[in-house]
Amino acid sequence: MSSHGAPIPMTSRACGALTGTAQVPGDKSISHRSLILGAMSVGETTITGLLEGQDVLDTARAMRAFGAEVTDHGGGSWSVYGVGVGGFAEPDQVIDCGNSGTGVRLIMGCMATSPISATFTGDASLNGRPMARVTDPLALFGTQSVGRSGGRLPMTIVGAAEPVPVRYVVPVPSAQVKSAVLLAGLNAPGKTVVIETEATRDHTERMLAGFGAEITTEITDEGRVITLTGQPELKAQHIDVPRDPSSAAFPVCAALIVPSSDVLVPNIGLNQTRAGLFTTLREMGADLTYENEREEGGEPVADLRARFSPDLKGIEVPAERAASMIDEYPVLSVVAAFASGKTHMPGVKELRVKESDRIDAMKVGLEANGITVEDGPDWWTVTGLGHGNVPGGATCASHLDHRIAMSFLVLGMATQRPVSVDDGGPIATSFPIFEPLMGGLGAAITRSNG
Ligand code: S3P
Repeated sequence: MSSHGAPIPMTSRACGALTGTAQVPGDKSISHRSLILGAMSVGETTITGLLEGQDVLDTARAMRAFGAEVTDHGGGSWSVYGVGVGGFAEPDQVIDCGNSGTGVRLIMGCMATSPISATFTGDASLNGRPMARVTDPLALFGTQSVGRSGGRLPMTIVGAAEPVPVRYVVPVPSAQVKSAVLLAGLNAPGKTVVIETEATRDHTERMLAGFGAEITTEITDEGRVITLTGQPELKAQHIDVPRDPSSAAFPVCAALIVPSSDVLVPNIGLNQTRAGLFTTLREMGADLTYENEREEGGEPVADLRARFSPDLKGIEVPAERAASMIDEYPVLSVVAAFASGKTHMPGVKELRVKESDRIDAMKVGLEANGITVEDGPDWWTVTGLGHGNVPGGATCASHLDHRIAMSFLVLGMATQRPVSVDDGGPIATSFPIFEPLMGGLGAAITRSNG
């Protein structure tokens, strides 16, 4: 990816109707967790549909460094021979998690209660992100850490030799923090309790149960109280990774704003903790339907059908929905630019500490393309210009952030003039087939500023 190479400038320009079927790649969150839980299990975990984006490949490499045997069989089919809970070896090299906050935070958690040390680093984006949100709760288990000022990477974690179980109220809505504490709790004796006041994606809880851990979730006045019994023997599983709703967001949103489009995005998980964008788009008047609704692996799944929606209207996005669509706000802000009226997005402080400050990155780029954006510490508002009226014409900085790059390329599909990004390289972290997939639907994305 380009954080380790030359920037890849890309340009997107208005195109004819987007049509056809978009088979988006596997879910990034579930892909990381499949490799990590496979590495902590006994026996051979087999995985199909793994997202082979750079973030996940970095996690695969890290699991090998901790002693698991991880094999790529081609075509998204992988296997992991795990070392069992508490069986991690000490890596003899620095663990480079690239661009991935999920990778580094979950891996810190899963090694934090073993008597080993590991040093973590990443690219310029990851090395600027806050890690104290994970190392603070890990310290309660007896884990030590030393990093750069502000709790930033590179950072060494010294695992607790005699961990104690913890009870922790997660202070920010973060599935990564929740998951790091649960993974650390696996190798602590007794019951580790994690409480979240706002529900975040629950893949870790669901998958831990699937791998045989004793884990319960109770909804109480305090919030979601998750109780994990430590030191289980996790049993190897077969995981068929569902397709990623966060990647589906891009072809869906593009179809809504490009005239005459009609795109089918099959097999998308509609887990309530992930599907907030689709609810929001429908409230804005999007022609977005769920076809062939069914259950797969205990999760609601549907084929999404998105058609051009000329009469989108700006709305108030409920703050309590933020966690269920946290990665989708950048592309939502693009759709909001083509709506009539204002779209107000409150309760989104976490957007400031993602791969980039996503409010700032989108505000600067949208404004350069003729759209008015107002913002505060935890909210932003986009004033839509209506279909056909968005000027475009600017080059936007992607700030080593895949979702910022893809959002601006979607913008350029329906603006009066083309929209460029300075670097599309980071797209490979989560959606390596973005260009051919969007091109196959009819999008006009080129690799130059021309
Ligand atoms: C993720 C959690 C979210 C999300 C990220 C993936 C996960 O981060 O933004 O892309 O897989 O747990 P936070 O936990 O920081 O909200």
